[in-house]
Amino acid sequence: MFQPKRQSGSMPVNRLLTLFISGVVAFGSLSFAGTAALAASPSASPNPEVSIPAGETPAPPPGESTAPETCGFCFNPSAYSLVKGSSLWVVVNKQRPLNPITYTPAQFGSVNLSKPAADAFLKMKAGMKKAGIGTLILNSGFRSYNTQVGVHSKQVARLGLKAGEALAARPGYSEHQTGLAADVSALGQGCTIQVCFAKTKGGKWLAANAWQYGFILRYPAGQTATTGYQFEPWHFRFVGINLAAEMKSKNITVLEKFWQLPAAPSYSY
Ligand code: DAL
Ligand code: ZN
Repeated sequence: MFQPKRQSGSMPVNRLLTLFISGVVAFGSLSFAGTAALAASPSASPNPEVSIPAGETPAPPPGESTAPETCGFCFNPSAYSLVKGSSLWVVVNKQRPLNPITYTPAQFGSVNLSKPAADAFLKMKAGMKKAGIGTLILNSGFRSYNTQVGVHSKQVARLGLKAGEALAARPGYSEHQTGLAADVSALGQGCTIQVCFAKTKGGKWLAANAWQYGFILRYPAGQTATTGYQFEPWHFRFVGINLAAEMKSKNITVLEKFWQLPAAPSYSY
């Protein structure tokens, strides 16, 4: 049975002290953990699941769940599955549908996201408010398979197949179905679900700071050949602080490149 190797989650005390002393800006415990991980994480290696032969189901790696991360000062590339819909690190794209295709998260938080994403969203909202940037709004969080049927067909009807599918995933292929993706805007700043959101105060702050709360801007500009989607400055994906910080430290913006997965510019059918 497949058993991924775990890396040590511990870190020498003197290293931790160095992190404190080196002037890391603390934004509360969440951001501190992320910043520490940014400064101290070991080299990423691909998650072992990427080399699993098709059809084989790996045993869930230790810690694989949507439970909160317990490793606040390290990055362990084997910590979560890239395959299971319930995993914090599941990679969903045009080549990687949800399994099962009608997957629904087990536990929701107090906003329409799975529990850990909802908790992190509220912390990010508080952080944005405290920074004087404005009020973060969740326009769309979890979307069921059936909801995505409507979202996809509406965009394809409006824009045609190519442009429509550069904006809306087919049902079963949307990160929104994991409960880990959030379409956001900032109250009163306009450009809701539009590319110009990137130029708003809120859009700029989120692009720079979301990682500290465990979110990544999932569809950055210039990455359509890899992600299959146009620039979506409003779509943030919760992956947890350790992975978000690791990606930031390596200056890798998209999950496919970070995990060395095939690009997913289009569907197979
Ligand atoms: N807008 C993103 C790609 C989705 O529909 O999931
Ligand atoms: Zn979205």
